[in-house]
Amino acid sequence: MQSFQFYNPTRLIFGRGAVERLPEFLGGIRRVLFLYGGGSIKRNGAYEDVTRVLKQAGVEWVEVSGVEPNPRVGTVRRAAAIAREARVEAVLAVGGGSVLDAAKGVAVAAVGEADIWDVVLGRATPEAALPVYAVLTLAATGSEMNKNSVLTNEATKEKYGWSSELVYPRASFLDPAYTLTVPKDQTVYGIVDMMSHIFEQYFHTVENTPVTDRLAEGLLRAIVEAAPKLVERLDDLALRETILLAGTVALNGTLSMGVQGDWATHNIEHAVSALFDIPHAAGLAILFPHWMRHVYRVRPERWANLATRVFGVDPAGKSVDDLALAAIERLEAFWQGLGAPARLREFGITEADVEAIVEKSLARRGPFGHFMTLDADDVRAIVRAAL
Ligand code: NZQ
Ligand code: ZN
Repeated sequence: MQSFQFYNPTRLIFGRGAVERLPEFLGGIRRVLFLYGGGSIKRNGAYEDVTRVLKQAGVEWVEVSGVEPNPRVGTVRRAAAIAREARVEAVLAVGGGSVLDAAKGVAVAAVGEADIWDVVLGRATPEAALPVYAVLTLAATGSEMNKNSVLTNEATKEKYGWSSELVYPRASFLDPAYTLTVPKDQTVYGIVDMMSHIFEQYFHTVENTPVTDRLAEGLLRAIVEAAPKLVERLDDLALRETILLAGTVALNGTLSMGVQGDWATHNIEHAVSALFDIPHAAGLAILFPHWMRHVYRVRPERWANLATRVFGVDPAGKSVDDLALAAIERLEAFWQGLGAPARLREFGITEADVEAIVEKSLARRGPFGHFMTLDADDVRAIVRAAL
């Protein structure tokens, strides 16, 4: 294992009615910025519950709506200006990962001097942030219990992640009932995203990591069992509950203990969504199997484990390479069986776009990926295979 420290200060309040407990964790906070997206929270009960709970607790709020999926830095700046003007003491995000990621940007931009895009690019380091509180309504990103945020600069068509310990949510409220209204496509995207987060951490080259490996495999198994049933029964609260917790654990640091995650596929995907504004996990579902085929020979035994331990492939008579390829095929069939897209061309992306994606994914830091370092030729081959 690699040496590591584990730190996660987010208090997770999980279960039916979780939001009722919001006031307990506000401390002396009397005025918050209430941030949300395009209005789904008005259809799933979250808006009504949050406003009632705030009112009962005597907490004032200023509402800012309109956070877009793939949240934009312009929206963060607009909300931060309102937060400053209104002298709020915290940011309360109610929605999916996009709203939570935007809230993290607002929390920093509302108190610091630096422009938030300079923070995203690492040109400025945040020194303070308003506390972030989150009411999550979509199982996917893990943003509810991590220090990451992904923002898009609409002017330059760039999409990058940034992180700061200052923006771990102070408390996150996860009521599976709010996720009952998530439509089938977003439900599938969430499942693909959380599985991808597990893969980004599971495919590493570190020796002796059985604890972290088995945690990842166990979590994948739970998702693989629940997901096909959930897409058939979107109103099943027990399945929603399982998937909601899975999304959180997939990216709250637990699965990075002692290992070095890869994150190359996320990097390529962010380039694709920066250029074409496609849903994050649509890009992941398409790209991940092709990244896997490109790199699995570095450690095929890790895919062989995925085949036997997660997908239940019988190893009898099969070589490690056979098993590795079987794992990739099973994964593709699994995601497509749920209804995930398989080809970039489904989003109008063609051969003519390949170079722009290659360039964009290498623009910030050059070659990337820890499992195997990808250069322009590698990225080109992966993207072409995914067209
Ligand atoms: O805007 P509203 O009206 O709220 O609708 C949203 C949005 O249209 C809707 N939705 C959310 N909850 C719902 C619901 N619809 C019905 N019922 C509900 N209960 O779903 C749509 C998508 O929401 P969004 O927040 O964009 O989805 P997700 O949670 O998948 O977040 C995606 C963003 O997170 C970033 C992605 O790049 C992308 O920008 N990521 C953030 C990470 C992190 N912070 O750690 C890691 C991830 O890898 C990812 O990159
Ligand atoms: Zn992701």
